[in-house]
Amino acid sequence: MEIKFLEAKDIYLLRRDVLRPGMKEFTDVMFKEDADPTGFNLGIESDGRVIACITAFKSSNPDIDKKVQYRLRALSVDEKFRHKGLATRLIERAIKECISRGAEAIWFTARVHLINFYNKFGFKEYGEHFLIPNSCMHVKMHKII
Ligand SMILES: CC(C)(COP(=O)(O)OP(=O)(O)OC[C@H]1O[C@@H](n2cnc3c(N)ncnc32)[C@H](O)[C@@H]1OP(=O)(O)O)[C@@H](O)C(=O)NCCC(=O)NCCS
Repeated sequence: MEIKFLEAKDIYLLRRDVLRPGMKEFTDVMFKEDADPTGFNLGIESDGRVIACITAFKSSNPDIDKKVQYRLRALSVDEKFRHKGLATRLIERAIKECISRGAEAIWFTARVHLINFYNKFGFKEYGEHFLIPNSCMHVKMHKII
């Protein structure tokens, strides 16, 4: 299953079902940055349906002392396709793509139970844990390139 560049409209359904299960609205999973020309969405399809995706866009985090920073967001894998390495492939590809666009640092907010998973890609957690409404406890993570 190959990784493709997708438009935001193609991934809203998966984002909603994975990140806000049971929610009818899409408001929580439609970001203003989806229209950001610096951004990109990577996805994997099966039978014409997106089953894994990740989004990245340029975004300066004042905690990080680097000029060109990218943020990763909304990593989502359909429940039926988990533990097959799809998220790993998407993260690795997104890191490469950000670097090719000049990223000097990559950051995101992570669900705290996934800290060890993200450590494997060289991301380090920092700062306080915090609650995201309609979701769970999160923490900021970053990787300096
Ligand atoms: C987290 C998620 C993206 C992982 O997708 P995936 O394709 O199954 O990931 P991979 O197969 O590449 O890697 C799996 C590894 O992730 C880690 N992992 C996945 N879910 C985990 C969880 N709930 N708790 C702790 N570790 C977890 C484990 O190390 C796991 O290894 P294993 O397969 O040997 O058990 C997927 O479970 C998902 O979409 N979850 C809901 C949305 C979410 O949490 N997104 C991230 C927001 S920060």
